[in-house]
Amino acid sequence: MKNPEIPLLELRKIQKSYSEGEQRLLVLRGICLAVYPGDFVAILGKSGSGKTTLLQIMAGIQAPDEGEVRMEGKTIGRGERARSSYRRLQVGLIQQDYGLIEELTVLENVELAIKMVRGRQDPRRMLERFGLIEKQNRYPRSLSGGEKQRTAIARALAKEPRILLCDEPTGALDRISGGMVMKELLQASLQGQTVVLITHDQEHAQLASHIYKLEDGRLEKWEKS
Ligand SMILES: Nc1ncnc2c1ncn2[C@@H]1O[C@H](COP(=O)(O)OP(=O)(O)OP(=O)(O)O)[C@@H](O)[C@H]1O
Ligand SMILES: [Mg+2]
Repeated sequence: MKNPEIPLLELRKIQKSYSEGEQRLLVLRGICLAVYPGDFVAILGKSGSGKTTLLQIMAGIQAPDEGEVRMEGKTIGRGERARSSYRRLQVGLIQQDYGLIEELTVLENVELAIKMVRGRQDPRRMLERFGLIEKQNRYPRSLSGGEKQRTAIARALAKEPRILLCDEPTGALDRISGGMVMKELLQASLQGQTVVLITHDQEHAQLASHIYKLEDGRLEKWEKS
């Protein structure tokens, strides 16, 4: 039995700034967050408030300047090797720009993700689940925004990741496609998948079990309405 008191993913006093010439922009000012197994966490925030930066730190894409990222109580090293192994093995990531590999077909994108974790998922089954089986031999450039987004979700879930991190997965979609994506995330969450969702859509955020708002570099709990 796993200890339910230990967060699956924990951020401790994360600070991050970017340098632009002489200027230094402090984006994250000591972020603390604990995500427990099975949680569905939504993070709201205005454009430019640092949501993608925060998610990239959670995903091990970027290292924080200060603070720690922990998975099940173990600190993820700041170095590229530790972060990339964590990212490859534990994280399912849906990036704001989808992040599909343009030279690979829909099917190959999903197959590669499964291969990376030596997973046992059937890639075609994942494509069926997301209504993509007829598009399996297409390249990303010939997909609609919604199809790209669904490919990115199928690929992220195919890894059976410890944690699913989603950066505005409905941002580029119309209401109906956006609703479908949210339904899939909710479904994954009901099946026990731990999910962190970045969104600026307050309605979508209401589907989460915990809502936070990122403002002025700090994360505040947001009461559900
Ligand atoms: N690589 C970078 N170099 C310099 N500044 C950056 C870099 N990446 C982001 N920033 C700046 O950091 C701030 C936060 O950016 P971030 O992409 O995290 O915001 P966001 O909340 O995801 O915005 P959006 O809702 O528009 O996606 C912005 O002011 C942005 O201009
Ligand atoms: Mg962003």
